Amino acid sequence: MTNKSAPTAVPVHELIAGRWSPRAYSSEPVSREHLHAVLEAARWAPSSYNAQPWRFIVFDRSADEVAFKQAFATLVPFNQDWNAPVPVLIAVTTHTLTNKGEVNRSAAYDAGAAAMSLVLQAHALGLAAHQMGGFDAAAFRTVFSLPADVDVLAMISLGHYGDVEKLDPVLREREKSVRTRFPLGEVAYQSAWKKAF
Ligand SMILES: Cc1cc2nc3c(=O)[nH]c(=O)nc-3n(C[C@H](O)[C@H](O)[C@H](O)COP(=O)(O)O)c2cc1C
Repeated sequence: MTNKSAPTAVPVHELIAGRWSPRAYSSEPVSREHLHAVLEAARWAPSSYNAQPWRFIVFDRSADEVAFKQAFATLVPFNQDWNAPVPVLIAVTTHTLTNKGEVNRSAAYDAGAAAMSLVLQAHALGLAAHQMGGFDAAAFRTVFSLPADVDVLAMISLGHYGDVEKLDPVLREREKSVRTRFPLGEVAYQSAWKKAF
């Protein structure tokens, strides 16, 4: 399954409606060209003061299996299960301080925007990308010797769509279920807090 378009209330661009978070991957490697493209998309994300606090660490199984396995080992068991065939993991990290040494309040916001650009570009290329918070950030920090002012925010698995039927029954059903969101009036207000748009 590669198409799980959002049933949007009004039409939105395919890139937005069509992106989703699959769990059925094949083990086919991601080309260097495609890796460059998704990282380039992230590089051009907007950021407060153009500070570009994000840093991505790419773990390409076909380029460095040892590092890949170290990153993979930080995933929680649930995420390890369905990511077993995945060829690429990308850690999303961010500098938490400005170049003046002050707390950058936009650091996570900016890194999230860059991560979204990355996954949208992946979707545009026909790749599957799935962001994950289910990993051991402290272990990751230790294993990869992150500087004290750098936070690791998420892991993104990246690869090609695989066979849904190979997933366990629970995940298979989830893979096929309709994507849902809160109604617009619950998340967009007009003129005042809680006054539905
Ligand atoms: C920051 C973040 C963390 C997430 N963590 C996980 C995770 O650990 N495991 C997982 O299976 N999905 C994870 N997801 C995927 C969400 O469950 C998914 O985006 C959400 O259900 C909406 O589905 P959609 O992306 O297909 O629209 C995460 C998504 C984000 C943005």
